[in-house]
Parts: sequence; structure tokens; C-alpha cells
Amino acid sequence: MRLFLDTANIDHIRHGVELGVITGVTTNPSLVSKEGKVDYRELVKEICSVVPGPVSTEVLSQTASGMIAEAREVAKWADNVVVKIPASLEGLKATSVLSKENIRVNFTLCFSLNQALLAAAAGATFISPFVGRLDDIGEDGMRVVVDIVQFLDYYELPTQVIAASIRHAQHCVLAAKAGAHIATVPYSVLLQIIHHPLTDIGIKRFTDDWRNVMGETGILATRTESDPHELTN
Ligand code: E4P
Repeated sequence: MRLFLDTANIDHIRHGVELGVITGVTTNPSLVSKEGKVDYRELVKEICSVVPGPVSTEVLSQTASGMIAEAREVAKWADNVVVKIPASLEGLKATSVLSKENIRVNFTLCFSLNQALLAAAAGATFISPFVGRLDDIGEDGMRVVVDIVQFLDYYELPTQVIAASIRHAQHCVLAAKAGAHIATVPYSVLLQIIHHPLTDIGIKRFTDDWRNVMGETGILATRTESDPHELTN
């Protein structure tokens, strides 16, 4: 499972990419609004220049013709732009048109297998089931991811699943187990999932054991007597 960052914050994106694990980004109008009043075109272009893979930007129009016009424009901004189109009837119509023009679509705000099968039929590159928002209303969000992955595998369809609306570390575990191609995670979750208390305890114990015998001498400073060309204290 690949990891995307779900944010429009350029510092967080730069950090995620530096870590070498973030291969794409998803944004939405709410996430962009968190960055204040920005030049949207410039922001998207900057994100696209930093990120090695797909960067999803969402349309605001609610008619197919409006979505298509927006998508055609933003697709010119960078080669790795993907247009997020909502899983509405108008969105479906727009997706069918755009995919025939080889404009990559991320079919977003998806909450059911039926919406996903329509996305695949319309040629969407990505489908984004929103796990957390389904959990919020008492449904099993990850079940929808499992069902969509099984459906796409069974019919050998190329549409990729982005597990979205990921809220915590356990969502990541379940998305990976479900076989989602991608999980798009908030920056806070990215920082969370590297962390394990036993790792911290283990690092401290190894360091303490070493220091008890070797003192403050580091590994690079220990190869001295046998090879004079090696580092010394
Ligand atoms: C995905 O593409 C969306 O931007 C995002 O995951 C929505 O998450 P939320 O439900 O936490 O707002």
C-alpha cells in the first residue's frame, strides 16, 4: 500500500517527501482553506513540483460542464495533477468525458460499492472511499474499502482505491489489510504511525547497555588499534 498525504500544507508535504515515503498528495477545498487565502494555481503547482506522484485537486462546480471546464484547466498546471470529481450524477458524467481525454480522475466523496463500480465503469483512475466519515455516522467505513478492493480485483479493473478520511493509526492498519492500493493520511497520522513505545524503550536500552561498558565512545570511534587508518577519538 502506498502512502499519500492528505493536506495542502507545503511544509508538511515537503517533510513527508523528505522522509521518502510519501508518493502523492490529496487536497480538498476544506484543506486548501486551512492554508488561508492563497493563489490556488501557484499552490497546486508548487505541491506538484515537490511531490513525485499524483496530486489530487478538487473541482468546485456542481454541473458536469463546469467540472469538465475546471478539470481541463487544472490538468494543464502540471503533469502529475489528478482531478477530484465528486461521486454525483454530474460527477459521473464529467468523469466519463475526462477519462476519454486521458485526464486522470479521483472519484471522491465515495461512500458505497455502487458508487465505486460506476467510477470504474466511467474510467476513473482512483476511487476514494471516505472511511472516517462513514464511521462518524455509525457505519463500518472500512467494510466499503474491503468490498471495493474485492470487486476491482475480481473483475481485474485498473481503478485504484485510495482509502481516504483516515483518522488514526488503526485505519492505516485496516486499509493495508483490506488491500487498498493507497491510504491518504493526514500529517498527524503520518507522524503517529512510525511511533511505537517499544521502539523507544529498545533504543534507550541499547544505548544504556553500550554506554555502561564503552562510556560515551561512539561506534565510529572504536576501530582504532587494529587499523590506524580508522577513526579515533
Ligand atoms: C480525501 O481525499 C479527503 O481529502 C479526506 O480524506 C477527507 O478526510 P476527512 O473526512 O477527515 O475530512
